[in-house]
Amino acid sequence: MTSPGRRLVHDPDGLNTAVWPVRADHFITPVDFFFTRSHAAVPHIDPAQWRLEVGGLVERPRSFTFEELSRTFPRRQVMSTLVCAGLRRDELLSLGPLPGELPWGPEAASTGQWTGFALRDLLQAVGPTDGARHVEFVGLDLVERQGERFGFGASIELAKARSDEVILASELNGDPLTPAHGFPLRAVVPGWIGARSVKWLGRITLLDEPSPNYFQSRAYRMQREINPRDARDVSAGIALSGVPLNAIILAPTREQVVSPGRVEVRGWAMGAGGRPITAVEVSSNAGHDWVPAEISVEGSAWTWTFWEARLELAPGRHTLAARAIDDAGNTQPDTLSAAWNVKGYSNNAWHRVMVCAQ
Ligand code: MTE
Repeated sequence: MTSPGRRLVHDPDGLNTAVWPVRADHFITPVDFFFTRSHAAVPHIDPAQWRLEVGGLVERPRSFTFEELSRTFPRRQVMSTLVCAGLRRDELLSLGPLPGELPWGPEAASTGQWTGFALRDLLQAVGPTDGARHVEFVGLDLVERQGERFGFGASIELAKARSDEVILASELNGDPLTPAHGFPLRAVVPGWIGARSVKWLGRITLLDEPSPNYFQSRAYRMQREINPRDARDVSAGIALSGVPLNAIILAPTREQVVSPGRVEVRGWAMGAGGRPITAVEVSSNAGHDWVPAEISVEGSAWTWTFWEARLELAPGRHTLAARAIDDAGNTQPDTLSAAWNVKGYSNNAWHRVMVCAQ
């Protein structure tokens, strides 16, 4: 049986929300169940006034209306699971505080069928010059950081920008994007952390270096050493790009009381960089012994894969665990301390869930 789920809200303005438990019967997440993650208020955009400016290191800078984009470029589609870099940060909080960071649990991931234009087609139209190495996206929202107000931004390397999968989406699951998800146009960068899929796109700039935008150069960076002068500074870290291999237990949930005997365990797993998952294993004793799970819905390169397993639980408390293995034999770190980093990003330690059989 699947629990209907409840929307968790992580901030007073209701900008950061997600439904938990994620429904194991929704391979594609209906918009009403999709998580939302925004760093500032959702901007009001008049589609008649909206333009996409494309410039920087290009031969033919352009400004497109939505109608011009539709007339110039063929429609493209990609199914992709959007994963927030903060997924499972709440577990890292057991090792110590992460000041200023939202305590996301395993709920910050959703799968969409995205429709729009291939970024590759747009790049071909504007002609990147020889020095172009990175593609920067900037949104029309206004975020305040360090006394300045600016649009949320990110950049991806030109090679990823030219891949088949990266699109500028105007639709989610067959309907125009809702305001919360980036109306009228957003980037969708499959396999990369959600922060690179910039919403409310206003400008695309080709650069010789990664974007100087705060969210590329000062946040969303993997840093394991604390800067003694500023414990929240991660500018010396490595900019996050790909989402790591991960496996999440959706049911039973943390501290759930289950009947002793045969217990059904369900969840999702996803490989890094589009790599297929070859196995998911589950444990009823915190990872001492493992049994294989069955793949219930096989995903594609850029989506989650659903799995299920049955475990025998004697009366008492048990720590369930799950881990995935990809086609190159990569697996996940066993401990939270191995996954720990200054801002608590990309936690992919074995997912452990304590339950009580009684
Ligand atoms: N784009 C803009 N312009 N502003 C933002 O705050 N948040 C990013 C990304 N794109 C953000 C943004 C982050 S951190 C994530 S995880 C995804 O959007 C969330 O997309 P969603 O709200 O459609 O789920």
